[in-house]
Amino acid sequence: MVGGHLLHGGDYNPEQWLDCPEILEEDIRLMKEAGVNCVTLGVFSWSVLEPEEGVYNFGWLEEIIDNLGHAGIQVILATPSGAMPHWMTQKYPEVMQMRQDGSRNLPGKRHNFCYTSPVMRKKTAAVDEALSRKFGRKENVILWHISNELGGNFSDGACHCEACQSAFREWLKEKYGTLDNLNRAWWGRFWSHEYTEWEQIHSPADRGETTVTALELDWRRFVTEQFCSFCEMEISAVKKHSDLPATTNYMDIFKNINYNRLARGLDIISWDNYPFWHREKDEVPTAVRAAFNHSMMRSMKKQPFLLMESAPSVINWRENNPVKRPGMHMLSSMQALAHGSDSVQYFQWRKGRGSYEKFHGAVLDHKNGSNTRVFREVSEVGRRLPGLEHLLDGTVNRPDAAVLFDWENWWAVEDITGPRLDLDYPGYVMDHYRAFWEQGIEADIVDMDADLSGYRLVSAPLNYMYKTGWAEKIRTFVRDGGIFVTTFFSGMADETDLCFTGSHPLEDVLGVVQEEIDAPSKDFENRFIYSGKEYPAVRMCEIVHVKEGTEVLSVYERDFYAGLPVVTRRSYGEGQVYYLAAESDLSFLRRFYENIFDSCGMKNVLGAKLPYGVTVTERTACLPDPADADTGTGDCRGAMFVMNFKNEPVFVECAGEWTDAENGEAFSGKIRLEAFGCKVLLSRKTK
Ligand code: GAL
Repeated sequence: MVGGHLLHGGDYNPEQWLDCPEILEEDIRLMKEAGVNCVTLGVFSWSVLEPEEGVYNFGWLEEIIDNLGHAGIQVILATPSGAMPHWMTQKYPEVMQMRQDGSRNLPGKRHNFCYTSPVMRKKTAAVDEALSRKFGRKENVILWHISNELGGNFSDGACHCEACQSAFREWLKEKYGTLDNLNRAWWGRFWSHEYTEWEQIHSPADRGETTVTALELDWRRFVTEQFCSFCEMEISAVKKHSDLPATTNYMDIFKNINYNRLARGLDIISWDNYPFWHREKDEVPTAVRAAFNHSMMRSMKKQPFLLMESAPSVINWRENNPVKRPGMHMLSSMQALAHGSDSVQYFQWRKGRGSYEKFHGAVLDHKNGSNTRVFREVSEVGRRLPGLEHLLDGTVNRPDAAVLFDWENWWAVEDITGPRLDLDYPGYVMDHYRAFWEQGIEADIVDMDADLSGYRLVSAPLNYMYKTGWAEKIRTFVRDGGIFVTTFFSGMADETDLCFTGSHPLEDVLGVVQEEIDAPSKDFENRFIYSGKEYPAVRMCEIVHVKEGTEVLSVYERDFYAGLPVVTRRSYGEGQVYYLAAESDLSFLRRFYENIFDSCGMKNVLGAKLPYGVTVTERTACLPDPADADTGTGDCRGAMFVMNFKNEPVFVECAGEWTDAENGEAFSGKIRLEAFGCKVLLSRKTK
């Protein structure tokens, strides 16, 4: 565990209160009362850290870090590049991003620097290195927090300035070698879009090129690479005088940066979770989205991650911002731990008095000190975490299943003009993931570069792009006994969005021959019977036929393609492949996956049929038994989390006996969960 604890705390911005020493004193006293053991400092402090170019003012920060240290509070120290001081934008306008239409941003806001700009890189490295020299070996500083939510500004997140354009051309030269290669990969003869000089290439722009999908893909890859190299530059600056690990805070799946790629340069993954709780009475869709994100963060390094920010109460940037209902704060905090987080951190400790975020929830409001419901609920989390520390230390979730979510596939499938223009890749993948979540079957969320060898089941919905090597990876996975699920419109194009010709790269494995794709209008929607029940076939209905040996589990009922397959299964090597030719609904996906889980004996860790709104996860650490090194059997320890996302008590019927990890209470037959309740049970897994 980073810092040796489950961390509890969050963003602390004392630089906004330096002229109120009584507030700074009260902060530390109330942090202790709330069970806060770690705060993040300096996220947006550049103007105070370096009030004039090259003049550093770190005394205030040192005093605060020391005061926190005396109170036993650890510090995550941020680099300040998330927001630039005005002296910088005034003196070096090139640090401000240029929009795709060629207009340069004006000073202001945040997250809006040009990541290619040599000046920006130089100034950032200088302040980072100075921070490293001053604080990099301080006892209570435990982690570097690079910048803030990279790319999360108010436009498309990318800079289109001349420095970026020429870096893009260099990147393309490196990738393709010659313009001939590039023109071929981009299908340049279409509409006479062949390039004869590198300088003719520009970033995609509404008033320029938006029709060459391979250009869009390469531009997105390049933007990711620039963010990665900026972030890696910051990491090497802070590590100049420090051995501390580094992270950067991710957002809810964010299209502009391939987070799996960025993860390679980080020691620890962390992210900011702002679910829309109470958007509707049914909290399940929101819980599923949060679970999906948490699981993806854990899957990137197959290690615990940190929940770096979450709202202790309201946020201020959605159209309506409901307060967290009693109990939801505890549940959403426990949900993060349940999926692999080693922290519960907030934005932010104390509300500022002015500017953009003054009505965003914080642990301390403008009024009433600690005498608030929010403070009490935060303190409850603060009291609960230490009891879980020993149990969770060294543990992580180790699911048998994985769901594919791949950034490059996301970019490709949503950039193309194809059967529909409203393809929502994350939404569709999340519908599949929801079927796992509802049945308490945990899944990692992985991309096409992942190692699949530890999984029994891999599901790849809407897997339009097949990156080089992916088809072979799946073939081996299935041949060796894996179960693979995929859907319509998969295996259509390669990495530069060139369509495969001849056949689907896995046609022999899937046993399905794709022919046409119907995107039916409402009046033409289809139906099919699966497992004795009728389900809709809507939005995307692929017209396929099967190869010998493929079992047809359902057929279309209507239209000229009535009788053709919708759901198929095929054995290949030791494994099996399922193909869904049409989009259906949640009730179908539930039934479909339930049958697969049953057929291969995959059960949730409670072995229970879960009521709606309840899910379970498990974190374990298995120690090899020294006496039995060959078989690898040994002690496993860990915890199971049973969570109820309904605002009413429920009973979970489950066979066997279970022990509450927090109070030792034993259950048999059933477990009662309070409204928005979460119980932590002792894990019984053996290796
Ligand atoms: C995060 C950001 C924080 C704060 C918060 C408000 O995205 O990192 O600085 O703005 O949102 O919800």
